Amino acid sequence: MMKKLAVLGCGVVGSGVVELFEKNKNLIQKRSGMELEMAYILDLRDFPDKPYANKIVKDLQVILNDPDVAVVAECMGGVEPAFTFVKSCLEAGKSVATSNKELVASKGDILLQTAKENHCNFFFEASVGGAIPIIRPLHKCLIANEFSAVAGILNGTTNFILNKMITADMDFSSALKLAQEKGYAEKDPTADVDGHDACRKICILSSLAFGKHVYPESVPTKGIREVELKDTKFCGQLGYAIKLIARVQMLENGKILPTVMPMAVEEDNLLSQVNGVYNAVMVRGDGIGKAMFYGRGAGKFPTASAVLGDMIEEVQLSDTIPSQTWENVNSTDFIEDFAKFTAKYYFRTSAADIAVLSEIFGAIDEKTISTDEDELIFVTGNVLNRTELEIAMKFLAQKGIQVLAQYPVLTA
Ligand code: HSE
Repeated sequence: MMKKLAVLGCGVVGSGVVELFEKNKNLIQKRSGMELEMAYILDLRDFPDKPYANKIVKDLQVILNDPDVAVVAECMGGVEPAFTFVKSCLEAGKSVATSNKELVASKGDILLQTAKENHCNFFFEASVGGAIPIIRPLHKCLIANEFSAVAGILNGTTNFILNKMITADMDFSSALKLAQEKGYAEKDPTADVDGHDACRKICILSSLAFGKHVYPESVPTKGIREVELKDTKFCGQLGYAIKLIARVQMLENGKILPTVMPMAVEEDNLLSQVNGVYNAVMVRGDGIGKAMFYGRGAGKFPTASAVLGDMIEEVQLSDTIPSQTWENVNSTDFIEDFAKFTAKYYFRTSAADIAVLSEIFGAIDEKTISTDEDELIFVTGNVLNRTELEIAMKFLAQKGIQVLAQYPVLTA
């Protein structure tokens, strides 16, 4: 029997979904064993020159009222009207696939519950890591694992900027300008450079890995605006790369600690080797040890590929998949306070006596850099919690040592 598909929003991703489906339709039908038709595209605009011009509709009711539409892709972006439209589709028993991380991070719990009540599915593989399969591996292939951490480079724009600072000697502003010229960064780059985009994505991965909805407000988030060119260089000389790392850890007390911040990543950690606009996600589980997922985190066809993967699986399903869900516990008790965050730290300070620093920090790594500008670069020898870090900062101030930059270290 013929099943119909629909797409909400004919922007970059939505048009990519339609075009990739039409290009590979025969292959998709053969592999899925289903007869499929891209029936409707909801958009306020007309696209008279496109081959799909006759599929454009202006009213969601057309899609909701057609009983043959089995699956809808939401590619509109933003929370409203996407939330209202997606909820209406799910209430009509139509499964939804979305690329919209803002929607999943802020309303995922409600939409997953709505899907369950209506025996359909709300999938979002494209919302994290673009083309990279990470949602499905987490809840299917790795279903037998207890997870201890998920850490990733989840924003291509900031990774491009940091990489240009390291390799092309560009400062933050010049690298951002280049990212905008190449079409990676938006005119208003806030969501990328201030870490909000990566925050939404780690909220989704945290919720899925640990089963409870994590909202963006619960995640300490710092972007890359303050990263200085000289620190990307000194970090490199000490064997680290500064990367915007979105991470969630399961602590010994059973609470989780999600964070987004620039970190000095050890060169033995594969995340330090992820360059340009690429994304990568490292998953730690008791069965697998470590597994890494790598690929294109954004773009028209990479994202469309993930949306279509979801849509085609949804057509084949007759009920909600229990593993691909989480609950809203109406509490943040399961999330640890940032005060419990521990790490070694990279420091750039005014000139200082190594013996004094070793005393303050317990120990510092052997390898240090003294600059012509009378600055000292070093990494602490021991892991510090936030209280220990604050005490150390007070001692530094008392000794007249100025802290010019400081990054937590991500070990291998
Ligand atoms: N602005 C995002 C990025 C796009 O740079 O990774 C994909 O979510």
